[in-house]
Amino acid sequence: MKLQTVKGTKDILPSEIQKWHYIERTVRRVFERFGYEEIRTPVFEETSLFLRGIGETTDIVGKEMYTFQPDAASSESLTLRPEMTASVMRAYLQHGLRASAPITKVYYISELFRKERPQAGRQRQFWQFGCECIGSAAPEADAEVIALMSMIYRTLGVQNTVLRLNSLGNLETRKRYRDALREYLRPNYEKLDAISKERFEKNPLRILDSKNPDLADVIAAAPRIIDYLDTESKAHFETVQTYLKQFGIDYVIDFKLVRGLDYYSQTAFELQSADLGAQDALGGGGRYDGLAATLGEDKETPAVGFASGIERLIIVMEKLRLFDMLEKKVPMVMFISQSDAAREWTMTAAMQCRQAGIDADVDLLRRSFKAQMKESNRVGAHYAVIAGENELQSGKFQLKNLATSVQEELTFNEILEKLKIEK
Ligand code: HAM
Repeated sequence: MKLQTVKGTKDILPSEIQKWHYIERTVRRVFERFGYEEIRTPVFEETSLFLRGIGETTDIVGKEMYTFQPDAASSESLTLRPEMTASVMRAYLQHGLRASAPITKVYYISELFRKERPQAGRQRQFWQFGCECIGSAAPEADAEVIALMSMIYRTLGVQNTVLRLNSLGNLETRKRYRDALREYLRPNYEKLDAISKERFEKNPLRILDSKNPDLADVIAAAPRIIDYLDTESKAHFETVQTYLKQFGIDYVIDFKLVRGLDYYSQTAFELQSADLGAQDALGGGGRYDGLAATLGEDKETPAVGFASGIERLIIVMEKLRLFDMLEKKVPMVMFISQSDAAREWTMTAAMQCRQAGIDADVDLLRRSFKAQMKESNRVGAHYAVIAGENELQSGKFQLKNLATSVQEELTFNEILEKLKIEK
């Protein structure tokens, strides 16, 4: 049997890599414009980090983690990271980053792993870019993070998106709301599907997330968390919205937006695209002031961040033809040899070009002159330098402009000078 990629994973081939580079370049530029620095953390962590950080009743922890025991004789349990926020907070606490600056702003471009049923826009290994702003409890931080996410999509040209916003209040709010929601749902319990019944006790807020059309009416009439917010949370949420309005960022309030991770408090948001199918969330995030405490930290560590799926972004950008302007990288010059001795010369000459910063290519297949010329056209090289016995004797080579077919006879140094100017 032929070996293939595992279901839910994908190769990113050279023919697609330009798209990835373009997105990564743009994303880095915008993050850095807001004062963020990159962080990279290990692909696997101790399982307990995610159990405690993300929450045991979430889908991610309950059924989507790739957990393994590296050594059967030991109880050590490791997990491939399903998201970055818990890892970033672990790194922040472990390295005492709080001591070096009052606020830590980090971004990442990382691969993640979730054992999900693969479908368009949902993979088992996928990529996210995202950021975490740790150290501020102020609504300015929430507003800036949302504005940053929005600027990335605007810079990439992605339109037709909807930003959904909600507030989950503080711990006390959620406790009161959870009780109220259970009371409301109790008479409707028999109408709930199996998964919602399961969530009823453990995490009733997630029932609001259900896409089951049979539950739409029950969910639409459910009490709204906004009515349970304490004064401080309400003021926080209103300030975030005032900033968004000032920044010209459109949003809709969605009282059903609870997000699938337990660490959120106060602001929660998600960006949806009409150009995606069932998996319509391009990215999401929110405030998570309680995460550090669940990891054992006793100092207040307020934080807010977001993450965006790169595969989903690519689906949307392809649909909107936002990659059409990307040009394939082509070599400036292709060295063509007409004899064995010339081949040796072309190998050295190509190397000297590269040392001078010029993109150069040379035949590695010992092909005929005709085949080498054909290859120069196929790859779209700007120039070909043709070397045969006569050229080696005279020290003068043909430099052919492949677009105009104009040829010049030049020494190698003259060729180098000319190409250096063109590059
Ligand atoms: P999340 O909503 O779980 O949040 O994931 C963020 C984004 O990652 C999603 O909106 C989606 O675009 C993408 N994504 C998630 N799962 C998959 C999958 N199986 N296949 C493809 N793409 C996927 C978080 O991960 C939080 N850590 C975000 C955050 C950062 N909150 C605060 N800071």
